[in-house]
Amino acid sequence: MTSQQAMALEEKYGAHNYHPIPVVLTRGEGVWVWDVEGARFLDMLSAYSAHNLGHAHPGVLAVAHRQLEHLTLTSRAFHNDLLGIFCRRLAEFCGLEMVLPMNTGAEAVETAIKTARKWGYQVKGVEREKAGIITCCENFHGRTTTIVSFSTDPAARDDYGPYTPGFTIIPFGDAAQLEQAITPNTVGFLVEPIQGEAGVKVPPDGYLSAVREICTRRGILLMLDEVQTGFCRTGKRFCHLYEDATPDILVLGKALGGGVMPVSAVVSRRDILGVFKPGEHGSTFGGNPLACAIGLAALDALEDPALMGNAMRQGERFRAALRDIRHPYVREVRGKGLLNAIELDPEKTSGRAVSEALMAKGILAKETHKNIIRFAPPLIINDDEMTWALDRISAVIRAL
Ligand SMILES: Cc1ncc(COP(=O)(O)O)c(C=O)c1O
Repeated sequence: MTSQQAMALEEKYGAHNYHPIPVVLTRGEGVWVWDVEGARFLDMLSAYSAHNLGHAHPGVLAVAHRQLEHLTLTSRAFHNDLLGIFCRRLAEFCGLEMVLPMNTGAEAVETAIKTARKWGYQVKGVEREKAGIITCCENFHGRTTTIVSFSTDPAARDDYGPYTPGFTIIPFGDAAQLEQAITPNTVGFLVEPIQGEAGVKVPPDGYLSAVREICTRRGILLMLDEVQTGFCRTGKRFCHLYEDATPDILVLGKALGGGVMPVSAVVSRRDILGVFKPGEHGSTFGGNPLACAIGLAALDALEDPALMGNAMRQGERFRAALRDIRHPYVREVRGKGLLNAIELDPEKTSGRAVSEALMAKGILAKETHKNIIRFAPPLIINDDEMTWALDRISAVIRAL
């Protein structure tokens, strides 16, 4: 099948809820992917940071193959021999105590919201139906009807009402706004340590530790959504480790699935996740043995300190090289570790045009909003590959 045929089929039979870059991929290995015509590209999106380990990670694939032959799905009606091991491993990896496994990031966010509300009623003593959660402008936490209820992006939110009540939205990056928004009914503050989908918006230094302090002092839960920033993406195991900001509830997904399958989780303390009793929450696939095996293999690989070090070093190189260009159409180059973005002047060019120009040079990246391009390659990218990428990205920007 040619790329044109594949795209035509997708266009005709698939709903148009995405606007992909016009490339049809068929194979991936490490930082590289190939299209159906055999052209090679460097993947600088990594499936929105699900591919922190690169495509076809040998350790993860070997475990996945073994587990496929063994046992894949039991549902939670029965125990399986990997769930407990996975939960212990993930809890320890996060420095927390308990895990509730799910599949997608959005499900984990929903689980965090349910956890905070239940905790609010049962532990904090908030009046029934009154629990409030504070979120931030330009947040992205997923696509469910409840989550889009507190989205400020019209594309994500419009025409999906009636919306779920119980959310207050404050500006991102300003801890004083959180302090003011808290009421006696507030149960939690849900925030991304860096807003990925918003265009890699990095809050001021000290923001996370300040909101941590406020949440502790005011008796509400700090719920950090590290679905995109987690697992070494920003140069540390978790982005909150840049500051003194241990969350009460940590929401994880994407890279936890090793680039193979959806694996997500809420990780928290016993006094918080302990609110759930049998039948009160669940998922047919959450915590399945295949997911647990793959999650364990992914954690083994993600634990390698070289990965974080590489993300930190290559990220610094990336930002320094692109800042050096000083092109008038580039408003800002920003990010942490290997979660970076270029913000372009929307009056002069578009993120889409630049993404397509990058594709023509063998770089796959994707615009977010109209004028921002995110660059998030697999964390295994080596010096030569980064040089290769920077040569091409620089050439595209210089040609603007
Ligand atoms: C911070 C954050 N939370 C949640 C999600 C939702 O994850 P999923 O697409 O797996 O539902 C995303 C996805 O991009 C995300 O970036």
